[in-house]
Amino acid sequence: MFEAKDLNVSIEGLVKLKGINLEVNPGELHVIMGPNGSGKTTLAMTLMGHPKYKVESGDIVLDGKSIRDLPMYERAKLGVFMSFQHPVEIGSLRYLTFLLEVLRKNGKTPDIDWIKRIFNKMGLSEAFLNRNVNTGFSGGEKKRAELAQMLLLSPKYAILDEPDTGVDVDSMKFIGGAISESLSRGTGVILITHYARILNEIGKGFYVHIIADGEIKAEGGPELAKKVEEQGFGE
Ligand SMILES: Nc1ncnc2c1ncn2[C@@H]1O[C@H](COP(=O)(O)OP(=O)(O)O)[C@@H](O)[C@H]1O
Ligand SMILES: [Mg+2]
Repeated sequence: MFEAKDLNVSIEGLVKLKGINLEVNPGELHVIMGPNGSGKTTLAMTLMGHPKYKVESGDIVLDGKSIRDLPMYERAKLGVFMSFQHPVEIGSLRYLTFLLEVLRKNGKTPDIDWIKRIFNKMGLSEAFLNRNVNTGFSGGEKKRAELAQMLLLSPKYAILDEPDTGVDVDSMKFIGGAISESLSRGTGVILITHYARILNEIGKGFYVHIIADGEIKAEGGPELAKKVEEQGFGE
């Protein structure tokens, strides 16, 4: 199980998350929704261990052990994956070189044919592997490449920060497909999204957590996501 326990987080001295509790089991989908600026990315970055986000109190626990003091790469090695809301472009690093390194660091045996197959599965031709990381990729291509990484790594837990924002319908299908596949392989997924659309694409039961002002304000199932889509986050 991947848990946030009464997490209180600050950025540069300002309180951003208050008393967050979350329990994610293998193969479960947990959807985080909330207005802009409510703390969704803060939660994602904190769970992954970005040094800018300071855990003031509370704990982050992976399979019974606290990981709150571990750096990002250690968490990744233990099987926590994150895809970023704004994937960075790295102009001097070939995507294939980057992936081979990521896989090696995570104890996987890199296999170029397998990488090509996963890229193709995400609707990305092999040519993308020869390009520099995300450089000149469209929004949808960046997100699809991020989710290709998830499929390659088969993490225990994946935190996906708005993988469906700013992408076209085709990308949405590829991204929904990758999430479904990961869930069926047993990955526990925390999905930050604004849209119920991606949830229809996934077509599986899920839990919804509504966050506002750094606090979880409501929790429920698919009906809550539907209500949010129809009525917004108003009271
Ligand atoms: N690096 C930062 N420095 C200072 N404040 C930040 C930083 N990142 C985010 N914030 C602030 O923290 C709050 C939560 O932001 P964020 O977690 O990115 O929201 P969301 O992802 O829900 O849109 C916002 O008020 C935002 O302005
Ligand atoms: Mg965000």
